[in-house]
Amino acid sequence: MQIRKAVIPAAGMGTRFLPVTMSVPKELLPIIDRPLLQYVIAEAVEAGVEEIIIVTSPGKELISEYFQPRPALEKHLAAAGEDQLLAKVTAAANLTKVNFVLQHEALGLGHAVLMAKDAVGDEPFVVILPDDVIAHSPGAISQMVQVSEQMDAGVIAVEVVPWEVVHNYGVVAAEQVAERVHKIDGLIEKPPREAAPSNLTIVGRYILPPQIFGYLENTQPGAKGEIQLTDGILDLLQTHDMYAYEFSGVRFDGGTPMGLLRASLAFALDREDTSEEALSILREFQDRIDPLT
Ligand code: G1P
Repeated sequence: MQIRKAVIPAAGMGTRFLPVTMSVPKELLPIIDRPLLQYVIAEAVEAGVEEIIIVTSPGKELISEYFQPRPALEKHLAAAGEDQLLAKVTAAANLTKVNFVLQHEALGLGHAVLMAKDAVGDEPFVVILPDDVIAHSPGAISQMVQVSEQMDAGVIAVEVVPWEVVHNYGVVAAEQVAERVHKIDGLIEKPPREAAPSNLTIVGRYILPPQIFGYLENTQPGAKGEIQLTDGILDLLQTHDMYAYEFSGVRFDGGTPMGLLRASLAFALDREDTSEEALSILREFQDRIDPLT
């Protein structure tokens, strides 16, 4: 399965980040100096993806603006000999080809993915939820592409989480078939803890066959009254095998303010140009930590 296209749903209202999301789309919020979107696009490009399809909604035009060339700024930085800054400016536009489709009504993640049907066409593709930022090299999508080739089937990224939080996620029922690889028997979106078949939860990376679109066209609203991607994949299991893969790497939840803070700290500690300052910031706060804990 050569994966050439990635669909990135970015049509949500970003309510967990109000009030900033009244004007700035959540997907453009930064970890240090790069928008969340840029991290996940880089992960896709590393895995061989050649075309990104971003699903947005009316009012989120700033997202497409981010990928426009900036000739005046580039000229200014070039003239000033600011090569490093110039590279940052051209990085976004140079990453890969980016296209946009609109989701006019907020009907759910499954519906947002369905909006990309024509842009994807008749080939397997990857869905990337930009809230989930995964730090690892090679990236999670590269790892999943390998599993998908080995199994000749679709793959969903999963991780084991504490039982107390399973109700926040899509959950898979699956049987382990190899190290880190499980064959999926069923999926359920945000079940109460008692109804969860496992604590193996879905992380926002999915390699899917194009037949998913036919199923999504018939998927009825589920959890939260929304058309869920999880429910579409459950229907897809009637005709297609799917595997869950426990990726290597740490997943950060960029979809909440505190998750983004955690990601920012972790990335700043890892990045050569910021690690020293990040450490000294942490030291500044040391006396706030209860010495008894
Ligand atoms: C979505 C999916 C869910 C998955 C989660 C991962 O939920 O519907 O199955 O576990 O992303 O981040 P959301 O967080 O958009 O409610």
